[in-house]
Amino acid sequence: HSLPSLDLDGVACYMMSPKCRRICVMAGAGISVSAGIPDFRSIATGIYNSKATTAYSSLPTPQHMFDNEYFLSDQAPFYSFFAKDLFPSATTKPTRTHHFLRLLSQKGLLTKMYTQNIDSLERLAGLPPDKIIEVHGSLATASCAECGKSCDAQRMAKTIRRGGLPTCEKCGGAQKPDITFFGEKLPFLVREQMKLKMPDLRNCDLLLVIGTSLAVQPFAGFIDKVPRGCPRVFVNKGAVGSGRAGEYDDKGGQHMWGALGNYRDVLLEGECDRIILQLASKLGWMDELNGVVKE
Ligand code: OAD
Ligand code: ZN
Repeated sequence: HSLPSLDLDGVACYMMSPKCRRICVMAGAGISVSAGIPDFRSIATGIYNSKATTAYSSLPTPQHMFDNEYFLSDQAPFYSFFAKDLFPSATTKPTRTHHFLRLLSQKGLLTKMYTQNIDSLERLAGLPPDKIIEVHGSLATASCAECGKSCDAQRMAKTIRRGGLPTCEKCGGAQKPDITFFGEKLPFLVREQMKLKMPDLRNCDLLLVIGTSLAVQPFAGFIDKVPRGCPRVFVNKGAVGSGRAGEYDDKGGQHMWGALGNYRDVLLEGECDRIILQLASKLGWMDELNGVVKE
């Protein structure tokens, strides 16, 4: 087995070995929390639990904010959320975790980063666009929710922030940013990857899963695309998956850091920036990481 021990030391040791050349990353909202962007499911502070969201009492559940069918019938809650809370501000900065991923890429170790985040902080941190798969789309582009005709995202954003209703010039339907809502197809690039059976995941030596509750499919299922011998490292604060940390079990029960016979799954529990810094330090990458941050 590849990992000398199922802990931070084991992960660092493996990463320094010649066996670990192709790393894939799967990330979620947790990696942007220290940049000031709330996640979805954290108790009290998550978008689905905070007062800000539940204040939209017209919504059956907070998740309806990002529900396609609901949006088609009533755009007001999403538009108001978009105007106030969704756009990362001009001063939002990538985190240490984002910078570490950029360093991984610079070292030629990163093959793909699959992110559920729509904040574009990966790009801002300087990760090459061809390394990033925005699984739930991004705010960079926008289109009509009825007919799909693309539109100017900046113009749409301006209209929404002014309190207006941006509509399609072709069919009059409501416009929305190209972020994936529940009940919607994933972006073309992701569908292509899935059709090709996720080649980067299939050929990977290490999977880093950072800051995601793994609650949303098909993303959560990507962790099962890597080879059986591939170590998987989960860097997360608190709950992961359907149960609490250590309880997450998909069909195969192959990824349980607490389970008997586990040989490849490591849970590093805590704030990702802190754990990533510890890892960088064990790898002897601190100077380079600080260099990336200064750029
Ligand atoms: P969640 O809010 O579901 O999960 C974020 C995870 O990050 C939680 O398990 C937190 O405990 C953890 N976390 C928070 N802060 C952290 C920190 N500083 N360091 C480490 N971990 C931290 O967010 P996602 O898993 O990204 O989809 O959510 C997945 C999808 O659900 C989103 O893309 C969005 C949402 O509905 C759509 O809107 C389609
Ligand atoms: Zn239209």
